[in-house]
Amino acid sequence: MASPLASTGGAEVLVASNRGPVSYEVRAADPAGALHVKRGGGGLVSGLSAIGPDANAVWVCAALGDGDREAVRRAAGGRLPAADTGGQQVRMLDIDADVFSDAYNGVANSVLWFVHHMLYQTPLEPVFDAEFRRRWASYQAYNRAFAEALAEEAGEGAVVVVQDYHLALAPRMLRRLRPDLRIGHFSHTPWAPPDYFRLLPDDIAAELLSGILGADHAAFLTRRWADAFVDCCHAVLGPGIPSSSDTRIGVHGLGADADFLRKRAHEPDVDERMRALREEIGGADRRTIVRVDRTELSKNIVRGLLAYRQLLDDHPEWRERVVHVAFAYPSRQDLAVYRDYTAEVQRVADEINSAYGTAGWTPVVLHVKDDFARSLAAYRLADVALVNPIRDGMNLVAKEIPVVSDEGCALVLSREAGAYEELGEDAVVVNPYDIGGTAEALARALAMPAGERAERCKRLAAAATALPPAAWFLEQLGALGG
Ligand code: F6P
Repeated sequence: MASPLASTGGAEVLVASNRGPVSYEVRAADPAGALHVKRGGGGLVSGLSAIGPDANAVWVCAALGDGDREAVRRAAGGRLPAADTGGQQVRMLDIDADVFSDAYNGVANSVLWFVHHMLYQTPLEPVFDAEFRRRWASYQAYNRAFAEALAEEAGEGAVVVVQDYHLALAPRMLRRLRPDLRIGHFSHTPWAPPDYFRLLPDDIAAELLSGILGADHAAFLTRRWADAFVDCCHAVLGPGIPSSSDTRIGVHGLGADADFLRKRAHEPDVDERMRALREEIGGADRRTIVRVDRTELSKNIVRGLLAYRQLLDDHPEWRERVVHVAFAYPSRQDLAVYRDYTAEVQRVADEINSAYGTAGWTPVVLHVKDDFARSLAAYRLADVALVNPIRDGMNLVAKEIPVVSDEGCALVLSREAGAYEELGEDAVVVNPYDIGGTAEALARALAMPAGERAERCKRLAAAATALPPAAWFLEQLGALGG
């Protein structure tokens, strides 16, 4: 066992995640080599702000690209300038680019993501060969870099909340370095059931579970994923684990940030995009089926399009009277399978438009360039929200659209999304693989009487905002006595 380190930093609360709250771009055109900083949003960012500027908190994250690496080189001890981070203390780790790529693309996104979302086409994949073992060594090194940085930054008895599948090994590594710390791990993904999790080589399955069990508290977005984790522990580590370990299992269902969303959704840039979108939709009485996703394999965008096509076949009365507004924003384009999937989304959308479109009606309005203001505009215009993932940790879009939609929307929701646990009762629920069933659900949602739609939407919004990001984050700290 590694020898415990004495505390050298003084942080009382630490967050660790692969993606940090800021990212940098080198502006090629700028001769002075100026860095352009972009601040991200999301649950963790608003969660961390809940503990206030006086709290001594440090966020440890990885440099993801060249801009980030350059920023770390310019920053003393990897601590980013406060002016860039809105005052937050952020330590960014410049992990060797090849090690990072093997850990992030080669293991986290190509293996762990695929296992937890059950995305493999199993006749040919996965293949756990020597190349995989080489990448696994990088995943270990990447987790070690986080554990060492956290051990350095944390004050005596500090609370550390480690986020997600990128960092499954870090809790145990950190525990070895700093037994005094209170450590939590939070999984933002689903957790695979044992039969699927055990596609992984046995030693690696055990290492991942034991890594998380190095934490005092292992938390998930829903009870279903927490139960699957416990089932995997039983199957891989033995029937007494985790009950005989010191790790408590928790569930904290991250909700939507109603105050922020409602305010942001009524700013002038959103109004402007609503006007543009209305023009693209055409026809004042046309209904909208809205979806907004990263172009992520698990989001099931292609089957969503196929179900929409089926709707137009089975219910021709909806032709010219509905538009599918689909925003599919770029994600993980370093992986060939994501690039292929993106092309397939575009191809199927084009096919529907050329087969069914008329002079005054484009059945699918597809946008692929990320634009948050335009997403909010679509949320406001939504009559029906389509959220049909194959499998999803939570799916915040399912929670956000009912909060923002102007007239109240109907929600067509996959039973495989974490959000189903909280929203299922007022949604029109679908099996995400069933195209005919999804088409019928869309028809039902479109035909839902306005009064029922508004009532359901009100209840959906209430359930969606039950645990806003700040409260969700404080719950994680509270579970560790922080
Ligand atoms: O769902 C897990 C998660 O880490 C989310 O928190 C996040 O939205 C998504 O994956 C982003 O992935 P990436 O950082 O690879 O773009």
